[in-house]
Amino acid sequence: MRGASRSVYFATKNKAKYLEAARITATYGVHLRYLPFSKQEIQAEDLREIASFAAMEAARSKVRTVVAEDAGFFVDALKGFPGPYSSYVFKTLGTSGILKLVGDVKNRKASFLAAVSYCEPNRRPISFTGTVRGLVSKKPKGSGGFGFDPIFIPSKGDGRTFAEMQIDEKNAFSHRAKAFRRFARWFTSSR
Ligand code: IMP
Repeated sequence: MRGASRSVYFATKNKAKYLEAARITATYGVHLRYLPFSKQEIQAEDLREIASFAAMEAARSKVRTVVAEDAGFFVDALKGFPGPYSSYVFKTLGTSGILKLVGDVKNRKASFLAAVSYCEPNRRPISFTGTVRGLVSKKPKGSGGFGFDPIFIPSKGDGRTFAEMQIDEKNAFSHRAKAFRRFARWFTSSR
């Protein structure tokens, strides 16, 4: 593999996402470069469609090969809400709003899903997904991470929320880490 082809831009405005993803791709020898980009969230049920649209837009407007990502928080007791609307719901209701909606329901199961789309300028995007199962906590815990991290406890963890973990600990379980691992394996094997 040639040196230049071992790097790719991550078009995102979320530095925390970038830091998590860059740790993953680095283990495959892929240098992820930060490209500040505000994605336009199209109305779609499938996160791959949202990520693909964002990747195509970023690749076209920045004339660069990029990856873009869309993630969502799916709460079983709320029939998968907020799902593809997570960004808007986080801005409006926040973690406390989700805790109120969930209330003291017994079934606290939830998932995070991530879709990562790779796109070269004027080419079709290719998507990779990752998911993690867990529980909605009873109250927010931890000061790390971002978004819904303080209220999500991964099933395979030790009972701590994502926000109580260091980046590498979250990466051992997270939806994003799984999607970026899939992307990095494909990226390194396809050149
Ligand atoms: P986005 O549209 O992909 O940026 O994410 C949708 C919403 O889910 C945003 O409010 C994020 O803060 C939240 N979110 C995405 N990924 C994560 C995560 O890894 N942990 C916690 N919240 C997340």
